[in-house]
Amino acid sequence: MDNVQVYKDLIKRMLALVDAGTTDSAAGAYRQPSSVYTDQALFEREKATIFKDEPQFVCFSSDLPEKGSYYTFDDLGVPVLLTRDNEGKVNAFLNACTHRAARLKDGCGKTASLACPYHNWGFDLKGKLRAVWEEKSFGSIEKSLYDLVRLPVEEKYGMIFAGMHPDVKVSVDEILGDMAPVFEMWDLGSLGYVAQHEWKLQTNWKLALDTFCEGYHFLALHKNTLGGISIGNTSAFDTFGPEGRNHRLAFPNESIKRLKEIPESEWTLDIFNDFQLVHFIYPNTSLLVSPVSVEFFKLYPGDKPGEHRTIYRSYVRQGGEKGWDGNTPQEHFEFICKVVDEEDYWVSTNVMKNLNAGMLRYSTFGANEPALQNMHKAFLRGVGEVPTEAPPTKVGVTAGC
Ligand code: FES
Ligand SMILES: [Fe+2]
Repeated sequence: MDNVQVYKDLIKRMLALVDAGTTDSAAGAYRQPSSVYTDQALFEREKATIFKDEPQFVCFSSDLPEKGSYYTFDDLGVPVLLTRDNEGKVNAFLNACTHRAARLKDGCGKTASLACPYHNWGFDLKGKLRAVWEEKSFGSIEKSLYDLVRLPVEEKYGMIFAGMHPDVKVSVDEILGDMAPVFEMWDLGSLGYVAQHEWKLQTNWKLALDTFCEGYHFLALHKNTLGGISIGNTSAFDTFGPEGRNHRLAFPNESIKRLKEIPESEWTLDIFNDFQLVHFIYPNTSLLVSPVSVEFFKLYPGDKPGEHRTIYRSYVRQGGEKGWDGNTPQEHFEFICKVVDEEDYWVSTNVMKNLNAGMLRYSTFGANEPALQNMHKAFLRGVGEVPTEAPPTKVGVTAGC
């Protein structure tokens, strides 16, 4: 796929929107009960279905850079151990010894085999039990019955997705749908890790996620940070993957206007600096791709509806030095942490407090927030509900209600 052509097509769409003073839109505004952020029963169903039954984005191929690399993943309460075996293939296992369930590895690194810290049983990188320590005294067992518990995993286009139990079907092509060739052209397997940050906040995981899925708030909430950079309330919106439940938003920067004066035939790869590209991958990943960096935010439910955890990891692309904001990858990482922390997650946390007060019955997504409408309908379908618009009654609770 031709990078420049993909970006040219997006730029032309965005310039048309900017000229018309509009944005890609849904048919109209859409109301849903605020209880989707506070209801305990719904929260438990979300955890039991869309997080446990669906493939999860884990990391990039470059997080397992060579044969013998391992990487642990504990984001969903299931301890997962990934290995890259001697054939270069990625494997996923429950990170538990089959003797008496001790955890095998922490963090990430490189190893020739997997030795259990408890009684030193040895497994190979494909999860086969190879050695029982002091076997003569332990007694005879059939080793082939003691292989590690294998979990479904697939590596494609530089991305690694896994299932949190053996029955989950993982197909990266199915997840990405017709957006797969675009992901392929980015060569996401060759990224350099920059840094990670984690938030644990008193807000519902979907409230935090909402802040990644519209540009309506850019010039209000982010007026002092993104205000001079982004046009705001303008985006090209596309869906992809199963039932179109994933989406891509392209947000034009002010700098895009320069291209009105330059013939399209003279546009080069640097037009990628004139917009921000944000992808949502169901159910909880926001993936940002720019000329210099690639970064993802994974948002997880906490123990209660009003608690959540975000893991943000930032990567630099090969040859990357300075990004659209003129910063180095580390400076860019720190800038994003600050914006999310002081602006997006500040507002998510205060919205949660207001919803917990129980006097606002509905949240409304505008026609100019089509990605939010699409995403929340997918969440409801994911727990077996039919999304239906809330009735046009007063949003606030009044006396007697
Ligand atoms: S629990 Fe692993 S060797 Fe005993
Ligand atoms: Fe934001």
